[in-house]
Amino acid sequence: MKICIILGTRPEIIKMSPVIRACEREKLDYFILHTGQHYSYILDRVFFEQLELPEAKYNLDVGSGKHGEQTGKILSGVEPVLQEERPDVVLVEGDTNTVLAGALAATKLHIKVGHVEAGLRSYDRKMPEEINRVLTDHCSDYLFAPTETARRILLGEGIQDTRIFVTGNTIVDAVFQNLELAKDRNDVLTDLHPEPRNYFLVTAHRQENVDVKERFEGIIKGLELVAKEFGLPVIYPIHPRARKMMNHFGLKANGIEFIEPLDYLSFLQLEAKAKLILTDSGGVQEEACILKVPCVTLRDNTERPETRDVGSNILAGTNAESIVSKTKGMIERNNNWENPFGDGEAGKRIVEIVEGVQG
Ligand code: UD1
Ligand code: UDP
Repeated sequence: MKICIILGTRPEIIKMSPVIRACEREKLDYFILHTGQHYSYILDRVFFEQLELPEAKYNLDVGSGKHGEQTGKILSGVEPVLQEERPDVVLVEGDTNTVLAGALAATKLHIKVGHVEAGLRSYDRKMPEEINRVLTDHCSDYLFAPTETARRILLGEGIQDTRIFVTGNTIVDAVFQNLELAKDRNDVLTDLHPEPRNYFLVTAHRQENVDVKERFEGIIKGLELVAKEFGLPVIYPIHPRARKMMNHFGLKANGIEFIEPLDYLSFLQLEAKAKLILTDSGGVQEEACILKVPCVTLRDNTERPETRDVGSNILAGTNAESIVSKTKGMIERNNNWENPFGDGEAGKRIVEIVEGVQG
């Protein structure tokens, strides 16, 4: 049996790392196909180096572009590789353009597709990620749902029970596998000088937020108000998309510490010791929940309802006053919630299932 792992962006590299490690441990016949959707060192290579992942056998170098252009390039780049390699299964993770194009290329060649992190829904079709998730789920043969909630969503959409496997989310594996290593790295905290539990950590990069001036402006104002209200540092490792759009809109910010995106161990360490995290990232909402750090989500919806159910996360949207009031509310909350995303063995489970069904 031969497996092809397709990935292309920061969260896919991080969330596929436990699956890759499981393939390595089991000495399976597999290879990595990198689409090159992310290509800057700090969004791509740094994770391969730090997580000690094997090199991708192929890199399509598709780079950035409009949705159709980028998705189309990935589709036409993946096809000849799959024709040449003829894997039995293609695995994709999450909801990026890489995921949709990779799954579509494979299914049209009658190669089985396994979708890691299946069944997430924001029910907001304006988000490119929502379209990618729905379409990928519906062309996949094996749906690795992280939770029971995700499984029920898939069943509700008519997907056969026998194709769905509740595995937990591989982000738990990634956090557990790397947190101890991260604890040994005091350099980020030393370099930035924040006191543990006395700073806010921010990430915001989603298209529906940073590409819309009023929304991005609301977030920046909200962060300024949070810095002022609590008198604590607000640290924002800024994704290149957000940096580009800040410059494009000419947005200015006071009292926010913008830094370059961080490597995984540094970012994990900064998350684990934050007072509270404000984010529009999917992975960061999950990590905050796992690390028992309260989270304020800078969106109007979330495809991670489990975080709200256990009380680790609240939706604030992008209105400045709402961001401050939700932050105040969350800070006072008890953080004794349970992690709803599994036991940290999802990667192993996914590989065992693939081996089992493919033989
Ligand atoms: C993509 C995903 C998003 C995910 C995010 C993870 C889609 C539709 N979106 O968004 O779901 O949350 O990755 O971080 O797939 N850029 C660089 N260097 C890079 C890559 C991008 O500077 O290595 C800049 C370019 O200006 C580019 C912009 O970021 O135009 C956006 O990149 P793109 O890959 O289109 O989407 P992301 O915003 O990264
Ligand atoms: N992350 C990181 N460095 C950073 C910001 C985020 O390593 O400076 C990690 C974070 O720990 C999480 C993942 O990137 O595991 C989330 O990716 P991102 O927010 O880009 O995408 P999303 O989850 O929104 O799709």
